Amino acid sequence: LDNGVARTPPMGWNTWNTFGCNINETLIRQMADAIVNTGLRDLGYKYVVVDDCWFNPNRDAQGNLQGDPQRFPSGMKALGDYLHARGLLFGIYQGPLDQTCAQYFDAYPGSTGSLNHEYQDARQFAAWGVDYLKYDWCSPTGTIAEQVSRFNIMRDALASTGRPIVYSINSNSIHSKTGPQRNWSDVANLWRTTEDITNTWNSGQTNGYPMGIQNIVNITVPLAGYAAPGGFNDPDMLEVGNGGMNDTEMRSHFALWAMLAAPLMMGNDVRSASTATLDILRNANLVAINQDTLGRQAVQVSDDGTRRVLSKRLANGDVAVALFNQGSSTTTISTTAAAVGKSGSSFTLRDAWTNATSTTTGTISASVPAHGTAVFRVSGGGITDPTTPTTFRLRSQAS
Ligand code: GLA
Repeated sequence: LDNGVARTPPMGWNTWNTFGCNINETLIRQMADAIVNTGLRDLGYKYVVVDDCWFNPNRDAQGNLQGDPQRFPSGMKALGDYLHARGLLFGIYQGPLDQTCAQYFDAYPGSTGSLNHEYQDARQFAAWGVDYLKYDWCSPTGTIAEQVSRFNIMRDALASTGRPIVYSINSNSIHSKTGPQRNWSDVANLWRTTEDITNTWNSGQTNGYPMGIQNIVNITVPLAGYAAPGGFNDPDMLEVGNGGMNDTEMRSHFALWAMLAAPLMMGNDVRSASTATLDILRNANLVAINQDTLGRQAVQVSDDGTRRVLSKRLANGDVAVALFNQGSSTTTISTTAAAVGKSGSSFTLRDAWTNATSTTTGTISASVPAHGTAVFRVSGGGITDPTTPTTFRLRSQAS
């Protein structure tokens, strides 16, 4: 979506993965302070997104949305002011129907969707200083055409406010089980590609709720052609630091999200994050690959079922290469500079995890542990660009 924002994938933190509906303004302020104090803000993690359950179920006498008076007693504008004063940005959650997901799917009391209030709510968000809207379709029914129409109303309502607001949509339920049914880049800046993420490597489900890391990667890799500055596939928020995976898997999750030009929205409790967790989230080499201004999503170079090679062209002519071991034992994964889109006879490789550099005449190879991902930044030579994302899944497009 060409609205001036999300020229690279947004980075930040979201309440949902760790706290669900158990949120309040004190928690969010503490998290904002932790994001600043740990250096995460300065690395680019700026959007602090209040997900579902912030609502007072009753609109005010003028029909305006209000925050829950017990949990957000200072009001939503005060929260936005707190974030802005610390160099952070303010994100909020809402849905295009009459209820949000927590109410619709979990019978959590108290939400009021934006249906038929879109312009009023967009004006309210702008008045509160909102910089990012997560807009979530919460009904097991609905056609893609209906979704396009409702999502477009809020897109236009946000534009009419004149405030730059990242627009993140979730087609949800039946429409996200096997990947998005259309390229949503005309509608939104971000669109979810699957059902909700969970903190397991492989949920065993290929199209169910919730989904593990490997499942989400399988669905999102073929969608590379949709990604460009202003519009990115959203394989859901990070589970780094939330347990459920070993350290190798956590690192792989982060490396793959960086390669996939995914939004890097932390989903852990940053206040109590371990050094190991922070070391993953603060990997400046991977953040730079994710935030590269060319806005490409990595494309698949090869996949033999165990060894998967992904290549992401970068703005300065470098190429980022991921060697991803999907198998259950350590294996050597190899590719070549030519295969990942470089021409020439001498290259420098920088290991994104160790920062070590080496030179090669073409071979790019590493021993990779089970579920691990090695990432190298390849410099030198020219670019042949087989990484232009020409092959991707494009389903029949609803208008
Ligand atoms: C849906 C979304 C989640 C979260 C919840 C909130 O499940 O996919 O990311 O926003 O709703 O209820």
